[in-house]
Amino acid sequence: MKEILPEGGVVRKLWIGETAKYRDHLLRLDAQSRRNRFSGGVSDEFIHNYVDLTPGLDAVVHGFFVGDTMRGAAELRPLGARFPREAEAAFSVEKDWQSHGVGSVLLRRTLLAARNRGFRLLHMACLADNQRMQQLARKFDAELSFDFETVIGEVESSRPTPLSLMREVMSDSHGFATAMLDLQSRILRP
Ligand SMILES: CC(C)(COP(=O)(O)OP(=O)(O)OC[C@H]1O[C@@H](n2cnc3c(N)ncnc32)[C@H](O)[C@@H]1OP(=O)(O)O)[C@@H](O)C(=O)NCCC(=O)NCCS
Repeated sequence: MKEILPEGGVVRKLWIGETAKYRDHLLRLDAQSRRNRFSGGVSDEFIHNYVDLTPGLDAVVHGFFVGDTMRGAAELRPLGARFPREAEAAFSVEKDWQSHGVGSVLLRRTLLAARNRGFRLLHMACLADNQRMQQLARKFDAELSFDFETVIGEVESSRPTPLSLMREVMSDSHGFATAMLDLQSRILRP
């Protein structure tokens, strides 16, 4: 399926050593988006600690990049050994890039990554008034059940196939090539 993104933007996995880009993206979220992303208001210090923990949790982070700057992110965190087939997914897109299809591409890539890692159930926690995330989840047939302040969206992900594994490898190589071109153009810049 063709992925439509704002001009000049790409979605690729975050590399080891790029966590500062993720942290800076989360810190740039406006107050409402930050509240929605973390299901409540959180401090800058919380975000620093949160991002520091991410690499140790086997999380898969996809980023939406415009040039070298991360403007959107999708994080897939395994729930751990007690729930080997379950993971949590969380999404964030900076305000100027919202409603341009970025969240849809990030969710599609995250579902593919989840499927290829054998996760059968994805938990998405979002506040009950977060219409946009609920609409987005519905686009991918999420089954939503309400729980007072919070909506828990659960998306069944299908089994991995050689084709789904190949699709993830192909998205990664495209992301790698774009990142290398970007790096090259910055090195060669006068
Ligand atoms: C929720 C979020 C990730 C969605 O990303 P996005 O890039 O804005 O989403 P998309 O542009 O792909 O739109 C997805 C769907 O949301 C709905 N949508 C888009 N803009 C909307 C708006 N202003 N109001 C209500 N629904 C809207 C549409 O159904 C759209 O699908 P369509 O374009 O096929 O009709 C993003 O808005 C965001 O980061 N919000 C703040 C943080 C957050 O809420 N995170 C979720 C908690 S895990």
